[in-house]
Amino acid sequence: YDITSLEVAASCPSNIALIKYWGKYPNQIPANPSISYTLSACRSDTTIKFDAGKEFSVKTFLGGEQRSDFSKKIENYFRSLSLYLPWIDKGSYLIHTDNTFPHSSGIASSASGFGALSKCLMAMDQSFGEQISAEACLRKASFLARLGSGSACRSLYDGLVVWGETPHVKGSSDLYGVEYDINKVHPIFRSFNDWVLLIHEGEKSVSSTVGHGLMKSNPYAKTRFEEARNNFVPLTRILREGAMKDFIALVEHEALTLHAMMMVSAPAFILMKTQTLEAINRVWNFREQTGLPLFFTLDAGANLHLLFPHGPEEASIIEFIENGLLELAQNRHVVKDKMIF
Ligand code: PMV
Repeated sequence: YDITSLEVAASCPSNIALIKYWGKYPNQIPANPSISYTLSACRSDTTIKFDAGKEFSVKTFLGGEQRSDFSKKIENYFRSLSLYLPWIDKGSYLIHTDNTFPHSSGIASSASGFGALSKCLMAMDQSFGEQISAEACLRKASFLARLGSGSACRSLYDGLVVWGETPHVKGSSDLYGVEYDINKVHPIFRSFNDWVLLIHEGEKSVSSTVGHGLMKSNPYAKTRFEEARNNFVPLTRILREGAMKDFIALVEHEALTLHAMMMVSAPAFILMKTQTLEAINRVWNFREQTGLPLFFTLDAGANLHLLFPHGPEEASIIEFIENGLLELAQNRHVVKDKMIF
């Protein structure tokens, strides 16, 4: 390795899971496979200034503000990577990261954050060591991102991305994300809106580390992991056939199951707010009355991800969101994102 001072930059989008990852084994091995859409508007932009030969230290700025809590976390993360990046502790790091979505909006930044960070690390690795192919580089970035935040490994690829070994997706692995074959996806699922209704801006009430940990003693965990594994069977069919109705049922069920798991854990957590439930009921009423494909998913928080395909029905759906749902968001705040293939 030829370790020199350098500056690298990378950008990485966030993602939203359709089949959720919730529960893990040591070394960031997921308890079940998951699949997500990679977003485009919600991203992290990160630069690293590396001073070779200096004592190992990490200084982090988020949106221009120094954050010692993140520095500590990233320092530990970097230390954990020494087996894969032998040069990692051979200098000091000055990290600047910015999220395109509003600061503390309740939108999780760990996926885009660790995605961008791991891309930066691979740019450094390529500069110091032996060159590997672009494909191998991306795979290693996904592998490294996983060690920071499990779901982050899916953000390294566009479109639908699978993480976790499943017989239903060729090449899938517990160690990194893989792209879901676009040729097996009906055109209706190849472009999608995800408008995030910001019901509760602010920190989540339970960190995902705590959440994953609670699955260890959750009496329904085994059934849940099995269900998630099995859900790949209908999902692969749905994606191939373009079965929107079944897609909606499966995606909403996955979101509610994630929240149900938190409700039946000890201690219990209710991550939805009153407005989340109200918005869900309004989405259901709208769908019943119009038959239009507006539906939702949730992360481990109160914000509602409103999903709807591009197409001729889009305008009516947007009109309903603006007139019938926006009032439920804090400050009528919505982040208009879409998935990218
Ligand atoms: O990546 P983590 O450890 O922050 O876990 C997040 C998991 C969920 O976002 C709740 C679901 C998922 O699969 O992305």
